[in-house]
Amino acid sequence: MNVRELQDEILKLKKEKNICILAHAYQRQDILDIADYVGDSFGLSQKAALVDNKIVIMCGVRFMAETVKILSPQKQVFLANPIAGCPMADQMDVDLISQLKESFKDYTVVAYINTTSELKTVCDVCVTSSSAVKIIKNIDNDKILFIPDCNLGDWIKKQVPDKEIKLVHGGCPTHLRISTRDVDKMRKAYPNAKLLVHPECLPEVVECADFVGSTTEIMSFAENGDNKEYIIGTENSIVEHLQFKCPDKIFVPLSKDCVCHNMQATTLADVYRCVSGIGGEEIVMSDELIASSRKCIDEMLRLGK
Ligand code: 13P
Ligand code: SF4
Repeated sequence: MNVRELQDEILKLKKEKNICILAHAYQRQDILDIADYVGDSFGLSQKAALVDNKIVIMCGVRFMAETVKILSPQKQVFLANPIAGCPMADQMDVDLISQLKESFKDYTVVAYINTTSELKTVCDVCVTSSSAVKIIKNIDNDKILFIPDCNLGDWIKKQVPDKEIKLVHGGCPTHLRISTRDVDKMRKAYPNAKLLVHPECLPEVVECADFVGSTTEIMSFAENGDNKEYIIGTENSIVEHLQFKCPDKIFVPLSKDCVCHNMQATTLADVYRCVSGIGGEEIVMSDELIASSRKCIDEMLRLGK
């Protein structure tokens, strides 16, 4: 089968079986084409709470499929490619955070949504890159312990200077590959371009940006902006997606190395096998794990309204 035929087959099976396909914006273009919803972590977690399909397939990484299952325990949720994880989500464990909570007793523990469901059980509130500032401002406590991304944490600290925000060392290995040398090089090559950067990048890179935002915020800034040229400081799939959406504008990656191999692990063939019932992995979680990890996601949805 060629790409078009495989896509048609997926669309046919999806309709017959009433399956909803969610795709993070970092997925490949051929997957975005057959998805019901495309978005950033926050958009997908909100959608997950609303769709009424009995089967949901997540094209993204494991914590995203777990989030869907936590919000819709009665649904069958599949991760299209079981090897797609998020290295940042696995950086911290329950023991470490439980110890930190002992040392910072009067702090609200805020977790980036890029964490395992086990870790969410010991956190108070979740945030995503697009909701973090608003949610932290809305928390009724001035003392915040933020895990696990200290780059995103640093950016939040600058937006919410009146709160005491403690960070724990961790971060996204993909966005960490971008340096200020890349900024100098690309600014020189594209002097008229706007530089759009994800807050998972190093603080010194974020400081150089014309705009800082989540993946969908970066995309809508570039799609709707008057500028003709954009340097994109996030996972490089976004460069291609923007080029498809706006063929008359010019999009270039800030660094050719900003590729998340976990996000790129899922292929159209994985999605086909998953809708056919012969691939993917069903997310199975105990009722206790779902109930206790759900509290901080519900808190995110409540404070993010
Ligand atoms: P957002 O989707 O919230 O922009 O996060 C980016 C990311 O790294 C997802 O894994
Ligand atoms: Fe995890 Fe970074 Fe990949 Fe997102 S881009 S899935 S945070 S490693």
